[in-house]
Amino acid sequence: MIHIFENIDIAARNSFHVHQQASKIIEFDTNSDLAEIFTNHVSKEWMALGGGNNVLFTKDIEFTLIVPKNEQIEIISDTSESTTVRVGAGVEWDDFVEWCVKRQLWGVENLSLIPGKVGAAPVQNIGAYGVEAKDCISCVEMYFPEQNNFITLAAEHCGFGYRESVFKHSLKGRVIITAVEFRLSKTPQPKLEYGDVIRQVESLGGATLENIREAICSIRRSKLPDTAITGNAGSFFKNPIVDRNIFDALIVKYPNMPHYPTADSNKVKLAAGWLIDQCGLKGYSEGNVGVHDRQALVLINTTGKATGCQVIEFAHKVQKIVFEKFGIEIDTEVNIL
Ligand code: EPU
Repeated sequence: MIHIFENIDIAARNSFHVHQQASKIIEFDTNSDLAEIFTNHVSKEWMALGGGNNVLFTKDIEFTLIVPKNEQIEIISDTSESTTVRVGAGVEWDDFVEWCVKRQLWGVENLSLIPGKVGAAPVQNIGAYGVEAKDCISCVEMYFPEQNNFITLAAEHCGFGYRESVFKHSLKGRVIITAVEFRLSKTPQPKLEYGDVIRQVESLGGATLENIREAICSIRRSKLPDTAITGNAGSFFKNPIVDRNIFDALIVKYPNMPHYPTADSNKVKLAAGWLIDQCGLKGYSEGNVGVHDRQALVLINTTGKATGCQVIEFAHKVQKIVFEKFGIEIDTEVNIL
């Protein structure tokens, strides 16, 4: 079944709550709808949209937005060690995490409460608290309008990296992710090393799936704004990955600077939130846009009236101030349209 909406305001379809018009939005339930959509309803450019949690609309959208609504979770194999599930792109990510925790399936619990839909998870390889979606994804199913066919791409061909995937590069704008398969473990494998997680989990009584989920939810609620109340898109910037020689010089000057190893021993990941915070920008706002007062990586629509262009202008200012102080460029994580 497909639903078509024309000339509508998209404030309710993006977590920044910016008001722009979309000329056409098409929601679909099943894979068999896609051929009809592309034959009869899409005449020009199009883009897939999930929950709108990682996009910033800066103008009215003249192209067609295509929104998967498939909310099925299906077990496709079950052994004594693991369960593989096929999850429709329209499932709310956190509902999927809850589903896994209830069934004692390990792997995605550290990704509790990340806003967005399952179909968007592989695009930027969502990650938090030492875990990334790629750690559990076995393959991604997608529709290829150019050829009117469906392809399944194994995880090793998805080009996953830190907030990176092939869906942001060679497949950008060319496929619609329809479902994602995850392999989840039946053996407990708690990952508690990141920040406050272990302390919170222990205070709840130990490393059960339920306790880990509760700890992560409580840490996130204490640091990140509630999207239902305050428009934002989570981390607005990516943590920068810098050459080791740049890091070596900075750490002498700022011995407490948080830093993380990367797969390449010549590169070090820094915390953009810390860099912004050190510039005195945490809680700073101008007009309708500000830096969140509990997590400097997050930009917020302070008045509910921000336009996408105002957010971009503010973000550029933050990038410039950080560059002037540290000589480091911080890139946006959010997809700007
Ligand atoms: N920090 C500050 N001030 C701030 C924010 C952070 O000093 O305002 C410091 C922290 O004290 C810590 C370090 O910077 O030493 C890292 O901060 P945090 O643990 O809060 O994580 P992050 O690097 O800011 C990343 C992800 C988040 C994810 C957290 C937890 C990115 C771009 N962001 O943030 O993801 O929840 O780690 O794993 O990688 C998201 O993508 O939307 C998101 C929220």
